Amino acid sequence: MNKVTKLITKNCGIITPYVIDEYVKTDGFKALQKALNMNPLEIIQEVKESKLMGRGGAGYPTGTKWEQALHVKNSPKYIMCNADEGEPGTFKDKIILDQDPLRLIEGMIIAGYVLNSNKGYIYIRGEYPKSQKIVTTAIENAKKAGFLGKNILNSGYDFDIEVLGGAGAYVVGENSALVESSEGNVGRPRIKPPYIKVQGLYKMPTLVNNVETFASISYIVLNGGKNYAKYGTDSSGGTKLICLSGNVNNRGVFEVPFGITLREIIYDIGQGIPENKKFKFAQIGGSSGACINEKMLDIPLCYKSFKENGISIGSGAILVADESNCVVDFLKIISEFFVHESCGKCTPCREGNKQILNILKKFQSGTATHEDYMTLYKLMEAMKYASFCGLGKSAPNALASCLKLFKSEFDNHIYHNCSANVCFSQEGVN
Ligand SMILES: Cc1cc2nc3c(=O)[nH]c(=O)nc-3n(C[C@H](O)[C@H](O)[C@H](O)COP(=O)(O)O)c2cc1C
Ligand code: SF4
Repeated sequence: MNKVTKLITKNCGIITPYVIDEYVKTDGFKALQKALNMNPLEIIQEVKESKLMGRGGAGYPTGTKWEQALHVKNSPKYIMCNADEGEPGTFKDKIILDQDPLRLIEGMIIAGYVLNSNKGYIYIRGEYPKSQKIVTTAIENAKKAGFLGKNILNSGYDFDIEVLGGAGAYVVGENSALVESSEGNVGRPRIKPPYIKVQGLYKMPTLVNNVETFASISYIVLNGGKNYAKYGTDSSGGTKLICLSGNVNNRGVFEVPFGITLREIIYDIGQGIPENKKFKFAQIGGSSGACINEKMLDIPLCYKSFKENGISIGSGAILVADESNCVVDFLKIISEFFVHESCGKCTPCREGNKQILNILKKFQSGTATHEDYMTLYKLMEAMKYASFCGLGKSAPNALASCLKLFKSEFDNHIYHNCSANVCFSQEGVN
């Protein structure tokens, strides 16, 4: 198996990102040309055959989402690209935005053509001002060259794209909060149903997809869905961008085929752990993801096998921690993030995150008791089932997985004998 497989990142670092001629020379906009001569249902069929699952975190099948959006009767319809990329440890959409934005734009135009939409938006997080400029320039150049705007490639089809800037809240990456923020409202999630594909931006049908999802479309349309699918596993087609960070020698964004194991990602692509230290755990999918231990390293990257093992690919972040890290310290940092990012709309998330943080501080300072475990389990349960949106539901994932895999570390804190090199409790910090 090829360890790094560049289907959608083949131009990254090679071409000038907003220069049309350079993109066209790499077969850029050929898929658009092909799509404009296809029936929308044929395009959806290719996307379905590609087994492309949304790359924003939830992993919803893209072909099915497009088909459902096509069958919504109301118009105008909007195409929205989620480039909020707020998940800690995730920086893969930035590679596309900065190094091959025309691939994203081409995918969005094809989506627009499928849904007969004339307007698209790319919502880019406020912390990426350079990306906003690059994408805006790419849009302007695509318009001048006739690939975007009125009568695209003399097909009679019109489509325009606008860039919107975020203001720095993690929850705004949730698709209904994204829509709220795009309308100029406070970026908090909406109650669903109605789903965004039925009533999204300005209460009109809206297709929201992630940057990487849209960026995969031109390859699928040009080469066929089956060709894309063959790079992956039976259930997960194609490739995935992964963000490798933490205690690993070779950090960065890598495009890998589904089916590759976590061990291959960390030890072959990532070139192992600095100073030959031992692997302790990795958090998969960002701060809202679960942690794995050494025994789980041979799980293949695949939506199905991950689910069977109680983990989720999420955004594609893989944060590696070596033996010198303290699990409790790590969880406290994750918990602080969620306390900060909870929008406060619902009680389980707003209060639950604060209470979890308080208890983790007790473990850190050596004042926790066995009763605190029961409180943690109750809080996690309430948050998972009663939170209003995915932020609160997934906030306890890391804690739940660590209580399962590293319970002895928590016990060690009760008995004041944490063995990690960098445990803050040894230094009396809380
Ligand atoms: C708290 C929260 C944050 C999210 N952040 C992002 C994000 O930054 N980017 C993203 O594409 N999806 C994010 N999502 C997922 C979106 O709600 C949505 O599922 C996704 O944009 C759909 O695109 P896809 O089908 O291409 O994955 C987030 C979800 C939640 C609950
Ligand atoms: S779960 Fe958290 S982020 Fe989501 S609505 Fe409730 S308080 Fe806001």
